[in-house]
Amino acid sequence: DVLAPFVDPLPLPEALRAAPGRPLRIAMRETARRLHRDLPPTRLWTYGGHMPGPPVEARSGEAARIEWANELPAKHFLPIDRNICGAEPGTPEVRGVVHVHGARVPPGADGYPTDWFVPGQSRALDYPNRQDAATLWYHDHTMGIERLNMYAGLFGLYLLRDEHELSLGLPSGEREVPLVLCDRLLTADGQLYYPTSGVGDAPWVPEVFGNAMLVNGALFPRLDVQACRYRLRVLNASNARFFRLSLRGRRPFLQIGSDQGLLAAPVAQAGLVLAPAERADLVVDFAGLAGQDVELMNDAAPLMRFRVAAGRVRDGSRVPAVLRDVPRLAESSAARTRLLTIDEYDDCLAEPMLMLLDGKRWHDPVSETPKLGSTEIWSLLNLTEDTHPIHLHLVRFQVLDRRPFDVDQYVDSRTLRYLGPALPPPPHERGWKDTAQVPPGMLTRFIVRFEGYAGRYVWHCHLLEHASNEMMRPFEVVA
Ligand code: C2O
Ligand code: CU
Repeated sequence: DVLAPFVDPLPLPEALRAAPGRPLRIAMRETARRLHRDLPPTRLWTYGGHMPGPPVEARSGEAARIEWANELPAKHFLPIDRNICGAEPGTPEVRGVVHVHGARVPPGADGYPTDWFVPGQSRALDYPNRQDAATLWYHDHTMGIERLNMYAGLFGLYLLRDEHELSLGLPSGEREVPLVLCDRLLTADGQLYYPTSGVGDAPWVPEVFGNAMLVNGALFPRLDVQACRYRLRVLNASNARFFRLSLRGRRPFLQIGSDQGLLAAPVAQAGLVLAPAERADLVVDFAGLAGQDVELMNDAAPLMRFRVAAGRVRDGSRVPAVLRDVPRLAESSAARTRLLTIDEYDDCLAEPMLMLLDGKRWHDPVSETPKLGSTEIWSLLNLTEDTHPIHLHLVRFQVLDRRPFDVDQYVDSRTLRYLGPALPPPPHERGWKDTAQVPPGMLTRFIVRFEGYAGRYVWHCHLLEHASNEMMRPFEVVA
């Protein structure tokens, strides 16, 4: 049956304000929620009873403590693959560990994939928040099962604000709206379905794409807005789906920020491709749409509707022409360049497919050991046919450029022959990033300064099925 669109209000779970001396406690727990008015309640694993979890609000320069408690049941409800690294027989079925994606934190608070803990346990972690305002998010990162835990619902936003951003006069309060997007496969009775390979004891699949697109955990929700500017904080929290966002009729909007905060200046957009884990900070002006509806689209399909009230309202918000200073990192400042391949390997059975970072597995010795405070260029040579969103923990980086090369020639003779000029990133990608799309047949270059803390972190593909199956590597910042 076809579900009636736009009948449910957009869920807006109340934010939790993290401040010094006011520790938060967020419990992972099972719950059942309706994803749509006409569906039965869906079993979910949540932070604090909601999918997505409550947005955490924090201030730059103010440390926050969050106690993450694992109150999940003892059995998983999604198919664990015991052949996957980190989920070997003997490891407890239900485990959790929380990573704040994009946060600059000491290694002990980063949610290292093997730092998981089981139901009945909790961890109090300290977040220094010594970084610029940004749309961060928190999610599960448990070795071997993060794809299942996140699919079950374990993710939420972490909004870091600073004085500078607050001084700009951007739309705020009810006119600042988080939009967390994800796709899920739903069974006829509205339950989450996670597909399997069909190979008995090896259920891992290389990608999962849903038939239901959720916004803040709701199917086709509706938000009543006034005829003025709104700021939309968009996160793609899907396992594997890229969203191709636009407003119906390709109405223009402004992009003011990306993963790691504000861009230097607003960028006029008619559409936007958001890979898993990427964020976009948008401003939409509904002023010309009083009394009308406009849908947020993914390609040709609506995700949600904005119902714009008739009549004028006062709009005291502004979008300054200069948002902040984003100095470009100079290539000449890089102490070294690492050439790192992204490649896929078939085992002798031709399946499952394995995708690796620089040909190495999780358990291979650490090979990326940047010095604390140094700048490096990471040149990612994508030999596969997919775009991989590559994420580095701890740091923010800039995309230098992308350049097409001859893949066959590289595979045959390890020589790099370019097929065209290096393409600079588009304007909306010229801010600070922590996850960026690495397209097939291109050499994509990131410039990264390893600031903050020494220690062991990870970098990985943010397609969760890839990351779960060896497309994740440790790196070590050395003092
Ligand atoms: Cu979104 Cu390793 O994280
Ligand atoms: Cu990948």
